[in-house]
Amino acid sequence: MKRYTVGVLGATGMVGQRFVTLLASHPWFSVGAVAASPSSAGKTYAEAVAGRWAMEDPIPPRTAALTVLDATADRAAIAESVDFVFSAMAMKKGETKLLEEGYAKLECPVISNDSAHRFTPDVPMLIPEVNPQHAEVIPYFRKRMGLKRGLIAVKSNCSLQSYLPALHPLWEFGVERVLACTYQAISGAGKNFGTWPEMVDNVIPLIPGEEEKSELEPLKIWGKIEDGVIVPASEPSITTQCIRVPVSDGHMAAVFASFAKTPPLQEVVDRWNTFSGIPQALALPSAPKKFIHYFTEADRPQTKLDRGLENGMAVSAGRLREDTQYDIKFVSLSHNTLRGAAGGGILAAELLCAEGYIE
Ligand SMILES: NC(=O)c1ccc[n+]([C@@H]2O[C@H](COP(=O)([O-])OP(=O)(O)OC[C@H]3O[C@@H](n4cnc5c(N)ncnc54)[C@H](OP(=O)(O)O)[C@@H]3O)[C@@H](O)[C@H]2O)c1
Repeated sequence: MKRYTVGVLGATGMVGQRFVTLLASHPWFSVGAVAASPSSAGKTYAEAVAGRWAMEDPIPPRTAALTVLDATADRAAIAESVDFVFSAMAMKKGETKLLEEGYAKLECPVISNDSAHRFTPDVPMLIPEVNPQHAEVIPYFRKRMGLKRGLIAVKSNCSLQSYLPALHPLWEFGVERVLACTYQAISGAGKNFGTWPEMVDNVIPLIPGEEEKSELEPLKIWGKIEDGVIVPASEPSITTQCIRVPVSDGHMAAVFASFAKTPPLQEVVDRWNTFSGIPQALALPSAPKKFIHYFTEADRPQTKLDRGLENGMAVSAGRLREDTQYDIKFVSLSHNTLRGAAGGGILAAELLCAEGYIE
């Protein structure tokens, strides 16, 4: 595989810092440009993140010395100097949408963590183990936009990555109804306990906009391509409650599901343990060897113990039981800034490079 030079837009933020950390030792991708808001532009990366570096690893020395660019004003220079960009900017949705399109129009592919383009019908919302075939809309996007190389591919919201992966291997049983309550880490809001002291010893029962995303985005991910666009699935019917809890990283979900044909519990466990997707078949660098790990211990998965499974890229499940209201219930967990954000974005980029969508 050739080496790609990549840019990180929003490189100074929580997700951007994860990108920078994960890319420091990536076998295919190296960071050639970092960009953020005008208030960080012109500083070295080390200066721009001083006092807010939130990763356990130190700032990678090569990136530390880069000058932070302005993601908007410097976009032509950034697009010219890299093979593609990762986008993780906290801006108004309309502005993000236009800016990401601006990069695509400069023939610079964009892999985005933002929600701005999640419902653009010819933009794939990729969980690479679940819907890699949705990349097939990219030629239609290019045709509509008059592009040769530019593309936008997005990642889904981090909350649903804690429960959708566990439901996907059960798709053949006809997933009809889902209730999921998610218990979400504070890093999902770009915060830690230093910057959000109100979260110590506290639970906040509202994450604005999260429940709508958790209920709607799975339908696009399980949708079908028709006439060059992704048509969302009509089932399952999903209801969620998303709760902010005092943990640093890791989103847990308590899930209840009913099916057209109820799967035996052992069959559910077998399907989780044996599920494998294109990232595993292609041995993509960030792919976990095993996507879903089922714990038989009654008190697992636990956020602190299990969020880091397979470098934070695997999903774990446990406590599978029959339910009195739904067919089954279980608990599942994923790392929100690794699988749910930067790691998932990097895995999606690896898929698009391996399959020739990014040359
Ligand atoms: N945290 C998660 O787990 C998670 C998961 C999935 C998706 N996301 C999404 O990822 C994005 C970033 O989230 P985050 O948690 O990393 O946020 P964050 O920590 O607040 O970081 C925001 C980043 O956006 C940059 N930014 C702000 N205004 C900008 C502008 N006008 N132009 C260019 N860059 C600008 C900031 O640059 P300055 O430092 O210069 O202000 C910073 O780099 C959001 O869209 C979020 O919804 C987050």
